[in-house]
Amino acid sequence: MIGPCFGCCISTSGVASASAALTLVERTAVTTNSLVVDLATIRPPIAHTALADIATGLAQSARRWLPLLPALDGQRTGLRMIGTPDYDAWLLRWPPGTAVSPHDHGDSVGVFTVVTGQLTEVRWEHARRRTRQVRPGHVISLGRGVVHDVIAGTTASLSVHVYSPPLEVMGYYADGGVRLLDRQPVDRTDGPVLPPRALHPSSP
Ligand SMILES: [Fe+2]
Repeated sequence: MIGPCFGCCISTSGVASASAALTLVERTAVTTNSLVVDLATIRPPIAHTALADIATGLAQSARRWLPLLPALDGQRTGLRMIGTPDYDAWLLRWPPGTAVSPHDHGDSVGVFTVVTGQLTEVRWEHARRRTRQVRPGHVISLGRGVVHDVIAGTTASLSVHVYSPPLEVMGYYADGGVRLLDRQPVDRTDGPVLPPRALHPSSP
């Protein structure tokens, strides 16, 4: 998720070429009665339960994706595994001690699950700070507007993150997740590995 963190710190260096067709679909605008409607803004998000199923399935096949996931000392890296008009999925590598910073996920909802290792999630809700450990098999839901941080432990970790609609913008915060500092677009120029019409690769 290096550059700006996206999708819980996603970086896409070294990933296969982007799907021009997907980009076209996601950015397509239609004109109806003189009103231009961005299709990406009117698609309802996929339910959290379905996103959890996708994340869990991809986590079970994570080893198949590892050769495509860059590894850089001391830096988070990411791979945009799948991109569709309705959701996208990322595999993230967390070297020990890495973290994001307090952030939201724009208009997307999402889930994430740990494949190997352990992550700490810090979440701010109504000025209250809550910390929890996320271990393999746990699935964390991210509602719209959630502000959180994700922090690696003392060992390397892998995680899968799924967003609906696909993650486009992230906001970054200070002062305990209260004060918005900046909004940054997510770099998706190097992905996804699989276009929307590919078969779902969740089989171990
Ligand atoms: Fe996040």
